[in-house]
Amino acid sequence: MTKAQFQVFPSPSAVAKAVASHIGEAVRARPQTVLGLATGKTFVPIYEALVALSQETGLSFAEASSFNLDEYVGLAPNHPASFRHYMEEHFFRHIDLPADRALLPEAGGDAEAASLAYEAAIAARGGIDVQLLGIGRNGHIGFNEPGSAFDGRTQVAKLTPSTIAANTSDFPPGEVPPPEAITMGIGTILEAHTIVLVATGAAKAEALARAFLRAADVDCPASALQRHGNVTVFCDDAAYAEIGRQSGK
Ligand code: GLP
Repeated sequence: MTKAQFQVFPSPSAVAKAVASHIGEAVRARPQTVLGLATGKTFVPIYEALVALSQETGLSFAEASSFNLDEYVGLAPNHPASFRHYMEEHFFRHIDLPADRALLPEAGGDAEAASLAYEAAIAARGGIDVQLLGIGRNGHIGFNEPGSAFDGRTQVAKLTPSTIAANTSDFPPGEVPPPEAITMGIGTILEAHTIVLVATGAAKAEALARAFLRAADVDCPASALQRHGNVTVFCDDAAYAEIGRQSGK
């Protein structure tokens, strides 16, 4: 059973406000905060809420740094489905985080060198303070698919057919996601000082229950989070439903 703390809200927009305020507090308390950032549909309202918070309160990211979890191999940064493009559109272009401190894995050249460089850059910043994570329907975190080692480092990962299918709607008509991505490893993720996992919608209910109610197992990558001492799960009622049912809450 898990040590994670759960915060359950009635809607995705309430989750987004709560996560934005959690990140805002971290950045206010330590302006040099190192953020670990995630993409996916779940995070669209979260970045929107964080941008609104920054505009309304003057929250500044000028001294912060960020490292995204992953990037598709072979997509140009300006491809509409690249995670660089996503981050620019939803977050970076709206805030004052310096461009040279808003990093994603470099997935265009020598992937092995890029993976090592990414790990070194994270270490040079003193590690990640707050790591944001979504969860795939099969329990993946970043692009660490079922079977990934819990001590894995940043590396090239192969996407499963179910992840490719789930992410195809992010691509222009007629295009499908590349078969590979560079992702932080589960070991990299577990070194973050604090972790915030976000899950919204009924499609995530099974994965969330599997991650936190069963013994940790590589078949469910998110279950590795049971080994971390500071995980907060922000979710809506729909994503929490299966945990609620199985735990009688
Ligand atoms: C992608 C990303 C993950 C993300 C997951 C869920 O494959 N690599 O970081 O958490 O899918 O995405 P969504 O929020 O769109 O359901």
